Amino acid sequence: GKGTYPFYMLKEIDEQPTVMRHLISEYADENGAMKVDADIIKAIQASDRIYIIAAGTSYNAGFGAKQMLEDLTNTPVELGVASEWGYGMPLLSQKPFFIFLSQSGETADSRQVLVKTNELGLPSLTVTNVPGSTLSREATYTMLIGAGPEIAVASTKAYTGQIATLAFLAKAVGEAEGNEKAKAFDLVTELSLVAQSIEASLSEKEAIANIVKERLLETRNAFYIGRKQDYYVAMEASLKLKEISYVQCEGFAAGELKHGTISLIEKDTPVIALISNNPEVAAHTRGNVMETVSRGAAAIVIAEEGVAREDDDIVVNAVHPYLSAISMVIPTQLIAYETSLQRGLDVDKPRNLAKAVTVE
Ligand code: M6R
Repeated sequence: GKGTYPFYMLKEIDEQPTVMRHLISEYADENGAMKVDADIIKAIQASDRIYIIAAGTSYNAGFGAKQMLEDLTNTPVELGVASEWGYGMPLLSQKPFFIFLSQSGETADSRQVLVKTNELGLPSLTVTNVPGSTLSREATYTMLIGAGPEIAVASTKAYTGQIATLAFLAKAVGEAEGNEKAKAFDLVTELSLVAQSIEASLSEKEAIANIVKERLLETRNAFYIGRKQDYYVAMEASLKLKEISYVQCEGFAAGELKHGTISLIEKDTPVIALISNNPEVAAHTRGNVMETVSRGAAAIVIAEEGVAREDDDIVVNAVHPYLSAISMVIPTQLIAYETSLQRGLDVDKPRNLAKAVTVE
């Protein structure tokens, strides 16, 4: 049950530090060595390209892990929207390896692609929260997120849990490959820091509630912007806000705004910028924020320690860059939750939606 919580979503947001720690105990031993099925590692080592197939939030989680997977496994990663790939796959590489990301393990769009890869005899891994689910049974391999039941339609802990699970996979494959970055990446320590960063963000609920009250309560539309890893988080953040608060929101690559979309900015249009600790791009994103502010936007800046400034609205504790999608998404989950709550909506059961989409 949801205990003292008004909605499952808030409970599930709060569970995320526990999910991170659970994954450490699940996929690493006491000495910090990876505990990932050797057959999965071998199958990925034998492949020349990883294809991640998923829908919605799980698709966004794939993006959150893409850079890390490529860096640590030396293998290109391509993302596919399940519903698009179901009706004709693009030209595949010689030795593809498929990863299906699915909280429920029951998403029909993803299953349709899995049926095709099975017909082609291609190896696959399902990363899911539900043991024994259809996608888990039908794929060659399974890795469980172990996040506990996710009841709210809006997915939160499955997103962060999926990225963390893929981190163990990426490190395990990278170590087997002798990849120096993989060896140097102290995942157990870094993921513990992520758990702490999440806890720090969770203690900012009141501040986030106030930001929502002042700047998001009345609006019909909003933007999330960011570059690189932050752009991927922007896509997930905007999906979450749309899904449960019905605010029309676009997640945008910050540098693309000036190529057209900036014409939508009016007085008081909320523009939420995500600026993680990547000095190479942080200054550019700040420049994009200024461009929108000078056109009347009401900017909200979520910045990570290291590149944060005193007047930023929300500061997130710094984590390893591979894992920033996990820590940066937390304030955006709370923003979506608060916006839905303050608008008096049913946070857990948004209109027109089901938890698992079992139709194509
Ligand atoms: O169970 P799955 O991860 O396969 O579900 C995929 C999407 O339907 C799901 O993530 C959906 O986008 C969420 N309701 C978003 O919060």
